[in-house]
Amino acid sequence: MVRTAESRDSLLAALAHEPRVQVDIRIGALKDTRLSFAEGKAPEVLLCDVDMHDADDLAALHFLKREVINGHTALIATSDSLSTAAIRSLLRDGVDDFLPQPFTHEEMVEALRTADAKTRSRTGDSGGRGRVYAFTRGCGGMGATTLAVNTACALVGAKSARSRVCLIDLDVQFGVAGLYLDLENRSGLIEIAAQPDRLDAELLKAAVSTAEGGFDVLTAPAVPIPLEALKTDVVGHLIDVARQNYDFVVVDLPHALTDWMEAILLRADRVLVVTQLSVPSIHQTRKIIDALHDDGRSQVPVGVLLNRYRKRWGDSIDLRQAEKALGMPFSHVIPNDFDLVSESVNRGVPAYAINRRSRFGRAVEDMVASDVKDFARAEANASSGS
Ligand SMILES: Nc1ncnc2c1ncn2[C@@H]1O[C@H](COP(=O)(O)OP(=O)(O)OP(=O)(O)O)[C@@H](O)[C@H]1O
Ligand SMILES: [Mg+2]
Repeated sequence: MVRTAESRDSLLAALAHEPRVQVDIRIGALKDTRLSFAEGKAPEVLLCDVDMHDADDLAALHFLKREVINGHTALIATSDSLSTAAIRSLLRDGVDDFLPQPFTHEEMVEALRTADAKTRSRTGDSGGRGRVYAFTRGCGGMGATTLAVNTACALVGAKSARSRVCLIDLDVQFGVAGLYLDLENRSGLIEIAAQPDRLDAELLKAAVSTAEGGFDVLTAPAVPIPLEALKTDVVGHLIDVARQNYDFVVVDLPHALTDWMEAILLRADRVLVVTQLSVPSIHQTRKIIDALHDDGRSQVPVGVLLNRYRKRWGDSIDLRQAEKALGMPFSHVIPNDFDLVSESVNRGVPAYAINRRSRFGRAVEDMVASDVKDFARAEANASSGS
């Protein structure tokens, strides 16, 4: 909804390179236009050109928000005179974002992205149907990458139909998922970080390699890049595009607390901290669980995966003691299997693909099967609730 033909032209110019955005433009003053939408036909985003000096225009905006659209439509206000007081009053009216005029293509895309994120957090929409797993660890070398790789492999066959799975190695400095899978580390992540606006299904498809086991991998860059080269909104966008195109997205996180980790944590259906049965690793795991839940993120679904487990008489620390120290039970226990995992790393084939009937393979399969069941149950509850 724009007030003048000039505003229409600048809007079309700002969206010229966004072929995926379909626009329907009406010209006129907001106060004179009775906007209404048939059931289920409301737009995802409603952009309203408002005369901030006209009380009737502001009242019309308020009416739109209250009576015409629901939480599934994002409302963006645009105006040629946006003061702080005006922004405050728009916020009170529940506007999702503001776009001062004149605006550029980048500002427009940013506003659409903000609006989209707000609608999704309002409606609880995952932004795509793919489920997101994230792997991390309290100390280095616990087996996070090994388990991320094998989880991705087991997820391919976890449902009756073959699932589309993408493993994303965000350990951008020391990531070895590609190495474990005999794949060359490519520059896809660097290109995505440099030109995030270009990222879509096609670019992601071109950036991934396919591993033995039938899943795609976005490897860490061949040359390490600073952790700060990734930004929260870029990582969020990457995960959103991935989960729109895959049934499962598995992320291997770096051994560092980055700003952009937030984008993963807020989207993850499972965050698994991999640990082993030793006093220091349990201690560090407790610390990382607290950090993951910090800053109001108590809802992040964190679980602890005990790796390389070997039952031995006389261990100074046993399972129950470790769970007590952690303050939560282990969500899964994966046995130690030195021969199989070493063969896997040396051949560049996931251990699960080499021998899924091994104790290691069965444990990974059980873990994935129980998670997939949980996801299906959560989906059924959500749809019966709505
Ligand atoms: N269940 C297992 N049985 C036997 N060996 C294992 C098992 N899991 C992992 N390993 C071995 O442990 C070593 C570390 O594994 P991995 O690289 O997966 O750990 P990480 O937590 O990702 O390490 P980093 O902190 O360096 O990223 C590797 O040599 C791997 O082969
Ligand atoms: Mg690793």
